[in-house]
Amino acid sequence: MTVRLRHFEHCDLAAALEIERTCFPEPWSPAMFLGEMNRSGRIWLVAEAAGGRVIGYGGVMVVGDEAHLMNLAVAVPERRNGVGRTLFEALAERSSRAGARRVTLEVRDDNEAAIGFYRSEGLEVRGVRPGYYQGGRDALIMWGDLSAVERRMPLPGSEVVLAIETSCDETAAAVMCGGTEVLSSVVASQVDFHARFGGVVPEIASRKHVEAIVGVVAEALARAGTTLAHVDAIAVTQGPGLIGALVVGLAYAKGLAFATGLPLVGVNHLEGHIFANLLADPDLEPPLVALLVSGGHTSLVHVPEWGVYQTLGETLDDAAGEAFDKVAKVLGLGYPGGPILSKLAAEGDPEAIAFPRAMMRSGDYRFSLSGLKTAVINHIRHEREAGREINVPDLAASFQAAIVDVQVAKTVRAAEEHGVRTVCLAGGVAANPSLRETLRAALAERGVALVVPALAFCTDNAAMVAVAGTWRLRRGDVLGLDAEAVADLRLD
Ligand code: KG4
Ligand code: ZN
Repeated sequence: MTVRLRHFEHCDLAAALEIERTCFPEPWSPAMFLGEMNRSGRIWLVAEAAGGRVIGYGGVMVVGDEAHLMNLAVAVPERRNGVGRTLFEALAERSSRAGARRVTLEVRDDNEAAIGFYRSEGLEVRGVRPGYYQGGRDALIMWGDLSAVERRMPLPGSEVVLAIETSCDETAAAVMCGGTEVLSSVVASQVDFHARFGGVVPEIASRKHVEAIVGVVAEALARAGTTLAHVDAIAVTQGPGLIGALVVGLAYAKGLAFATGLPLVGVNHLEGHIFANLLADPDLEPPLVALLVSGGHTSLVHVPEWGVYQTLGETLDDAAGEAFDKVAKVLGLGYPGGPILSKLAAEGDPEAIAFPRAMMRSGDYRFSLSGLKTAVINHIRHEREAGREINVPDLAASFQAAIVDVQVAKTVRAAEEHGVRTVCLAGGVAANPSLRETLRAALAERGVALVVPALAFCTDNAAMVAVAGTWRLRRGDVLGLDAEAVADLRLD
């Protein structure tokens, strides 16, 4: 018999009351269920048979390192099918994830079937509560160790993961099934609140995340046509990023994990950007080289296998996206600068102004972009002082070409040196059409394939966190509820 476990919802109450009435001499009342169901530290599950018929349920209360089994029942005709065992073991597993190390329960001293069942689950009688039940029957107190409970993972291929991303200025949530199917991806951008400052203001970012996160997660679940009851794990960006922004997402994810008993998976934001490429090509396999270019990072990473990252070199000063943002700010074009400048660049001449290609011949994989930014600012000042009109498209195209040339040259060399057949682009600047096309052409000449995420998955989003989170979940990489956000979390 196939039994499916899911979260106990209000709509299950009637079915539970009916089972309760036929199972126990002292059935729980509706008020008892309602009083216990949605309290913190409670984990309630129902077991349903084919067609969604509720055939059993159980609930535990986790306090500190102890899980107290409050109720466990299976409809009489469905007994001896292992439903009770499935429920009990799932509750034990989820309690263990929520921090419990032992389980306790009370059982009527004349309920031999139940006592035998709990004994077979490794519990033993530790005490008696005289006259606990109506009619003066005693309760036996049973006790079991949870430290050896095996933490089972949902079957690979069908896991539903809810992911949350709040590392910078986008509040994002996504729901993904089986690691490749995006059921929903919601991104609430705060850009308008930061635009007038020409960059992200950390304090504003944190506050806006707090305002948006509940709605964004609810929207992601609604658009996926699902509820928390059908989710198998919560994935969240743990770092790197703005600490106050990361903390909002992590705290919210921890709360969800605690309330539901679901596993919490921590994802490195940069790893998420790299995994976004699996959305473009589900068969993508390392070894590969990733060019990671975002508002905060510019680096070349060798990925010999998933989860192993070797940073070949990174920027010594500004990140590529940051350079786009700063130049756009000087030109008074708004924030973020990347999309605006790349649009203008499409109409300009990339050879109009000869900007420096810093570190082009450094012989390593390091980058430097602050000199280019200064060169652009000096050019603008020079032209203005000479009373000449600035040709913004030419400037944008020449600036962009200076960045793209260096990125492409170093990426091609890294691919050759490490003998990889595949290169991936990752991070917000991966949305740049010139970078995508120039790199694709240069790699194609050498028989190396370029994988790039769809535009929506280049800039910050939670779908990429869900992909990386599903992979980590499968490996059993689960965070404790004491996990902290790490502003400078590294890949390697
Ligand atoms: O990955 P992301 O969304 O956030 C960070 O983790 O930093 O990257 C944002 C950065 C911004 O600096 C933005 O200007 C840049 O990506 N960006 C672009 C383009 N679209 C976004 N840069 C160049 N060309 C683009 N089309
Ligand atoms: Zn990013």
